[in-house]
Amino acid sequence: MGEFIELVRKRRSIRSYRSEPVPREKIELCIEAARFAPTACNTQSWRFIVVEGELKVRLVKEALGGVIVPNRFALQAPVIVVIAVDMNLVTHRLGGGLKGIDYHMIDTGIAGEHFVLQAAELDLGTCWIGWFNKKAVKRLLGLSRGWEVTAMITLGYPASVPPDKKRKSVSDVSDFKR
Ligand SMILES: Cc1cc2nc3c(=O)[nH]c(=O)nc-3n(C[C@H](O)[C@H](O)[C@H](O)COP(=O)(O)O)c2cc1C
Repeated sequence: MGEFIELVRKRRSIRSYRSEPVPREKIELCIEAARFAPTACNTQSWRFIVVEGELKVRLVKEALGGVIVPNRFALQAPVIVVIAVDMNLVTHRLGGGLKGIDYHMIDTGIAGEHFVLQAAELDLGTCWIGWFNKKAVKRLLGLSRGWEVTAMITLGYPASVPPDKKRKSVSDVSDFKR
């Protein structure tokens, strides 16, 4: 079995972290992996905002979760990476509007997953977070007009690793047509 598929199988969402900080060069390597992600029209219009310390605590308390998905586990993670995207670009505004496809969501999704897989290779744990208050995040991070936040990723050394999640089979999720 190839190494890539092994890495993909190894990754899972981690919601329990050790307090040990993540060295900056490891965070930068994850961003390096993200920066090689493809983007519609090669816009590369994402930004990875690395939030640590007191600002991270405020981010979790003021902008994450809610009644349905509390996301309090994020307080434990030493790092939260906020993925933001420049919506002032023609591809994102016009292209998305004309074709009805949210290119900025695809772009940030791919880049985020590159980040997550690189983290898994470094034995770092991650969890995607999509349940947050956009306005509060933008205010806390001082994001300029026209910038959107699409997702966040918690990052840190796992305190525990959950068992494998049940996955649909290849035949469940695919159709081969000719
Ligand atoms: C776009 C997106 C948003 C997510 N948002 C949250 C979230 O807000 N809170 C959370 O605990 N997990 C969140 N997750 C993690 C999923 O619950 C998780 O990926 C899924 O249950 C499969 O488990 P696995 O990642 O361990 O394979 C999110 C995942 C994705 C891809």
